[in-house]
Amino acid sequence: MGFTELTAVFVFLLVDLGGLDTVTFNPKSSQIGPVIVDEQMLWLGGGAGEVHTYRIPLLTFTIQGSLLAFAEARKTSSTDMEAKFIALRRSTDRGATWSPTSFLVDDGSQTDGVNLGSVVVDEETGAVILIYSLCFYRYHCTPPQTMMTESLDDGLTWSAPRNLNPQLGVKSFIPGPGFGIQKRHPPAVGRLVVCGHGTLAGDGVFCILSDDHGRTWRNGAALKSIPYNQNKQDLDFNPDECQPVELDDGSIYVSVRNQNHYHCRCRMVVLSLDGGESLPVEHLVFDTALVDSAVAAGALQKDGVLYFTNPANSYHRVNLTLRWSLDHGKSWLNKTLKIWDGPSGYSCIASHKDNGTDNHIYVIYEKGQKDYCETISFIKINLHSGL
Ligand SMILES: *[C@@H]1O[C@H](CO)[C@@H](O)[C@H](O)[C@H]1NC(C)=O
Ligand SMILES: *[C@@H]1O[C@H](CO)[C@@H](O)[C@H](O)[C@H]1NC(C)=O
Ligand SMILES: *[C@@H]1O[C@H](CO)[C@@H](O)[C@H](O)[C@H]1NC(C)=O
Repeated sequence: MGFTELTAVFVFLLVDLGGLDTVTFNPKSSQIGPVIVDEQMLWLGGGAGEVHTYRIPLLTFTIQGSLLAFAEARKTSSTDMEAKFIALRRSTDRGATWSPTSFLVDDGSQTDGVNLGSVVVDEETGAVILIYSLCFYRYHCTPPQTMMTESLDDGLTWSAPRNLNPQLGVKSFIPGPGFGIQKRHPPAVGRLVVCGHGTLAGDGVFCILSDDHGRTWRNGAALKSIPYNQNKQDLDFNPDECQPVELDDGSIYVSVRNQNHYHCRCRMVVLSLDGGESLPVEHLVFDTALVDSAVAAGALQKDGVLYFTNPANSYHRVNLTLRWSLDHGKSWLNKTLKIWDGPSGYSCIASHKDNGTDNHIYVIYEKGQKDYCETISFIKINLHSGL
């Protein structure tokens, strides 16, 4: 894409088409015409405020309707194994304005520090729960820890982090990255389900479950890599980072990073029919429509439509694209929304928990001009402005 075109995209993004917000969306309609109506850069790396690089963005709405954006603030380099803060910004006007960055957790100068992470909102208690990892790579530290902090006041203040190892055992586990879910439909209504992945040898998708609003957690489903606990080669089966989404029939659709490109350079999808207790291989498919270079992706279900964001390219982290499906991911509409042609990486999607009256979805993603991890950007998408 040429410079002129890039400029045109920027100019376009500055135009707020908010006047169309009042159109009512009929969920039964197959007419989705998404248009980006606002874009804001939430974080810029490059050393300002002792942060070299912001990565791994998470986004959620609280039950009060505030938006919370989280990211890893990597202090001195862009690498995964790096000392970090967890950065948070909060918006009470659906992303129009944002609080300054606050830093929730500081791992000091630990080389193998914090790794994000999954955010899950308990709609019964209103708690916002953030689960992250410490010492995941067991590099000059031990043991690895799965940590939890929660906010009971809409994201303003956070509890002292709690180590979940006594409940879960010692394991290298990075939740997400993305959001966890609370089951709305049977089985296991009210259960919190957080899925993530293991170390590269002991990789796979692993879910942890809580049936008491996050007080206690236990290990649930596992979809293990093959060969398990051995180093992998190209084309081995190696399920990695993942995003769970509850479908209307109560099943959990998990969109999974296909780390070693087993079978395809595309997404793996696995369904749990028992509330996150198991992820049977009989319910594993390779979605060749969703080309992917092995990256964390965004997924969300809203009003019966499944949305998906990733850098839609088999080999490179470029071309962040929104796709949507009217049949729970069995097929995807040919029409897509290109979010960013250029370098783009991890993404996470959120929607207001208002029972379907907000016609927008909200996306946070890694975006750059030369490298995908230069900035973290937030966009608001009107789902039917483009009709
Ligand atoms: C970007 O994504 C679209 C939609 O999947 C695809 O048609 C196009 O070929 C992609 N372009 C690049 C450069 O990856
Ligand atoms: C999408 O395009 C393919 C190839 O052109 C076509 O076979 C398919 O029917 C289209 N799907 C939809 C839902 O329009
Ligand atoms: C949400 O919508 C459903 C179906 O229309 C309705 O039964 C339910 O009462 C609504 N809930 C709220 C909180 O408005």
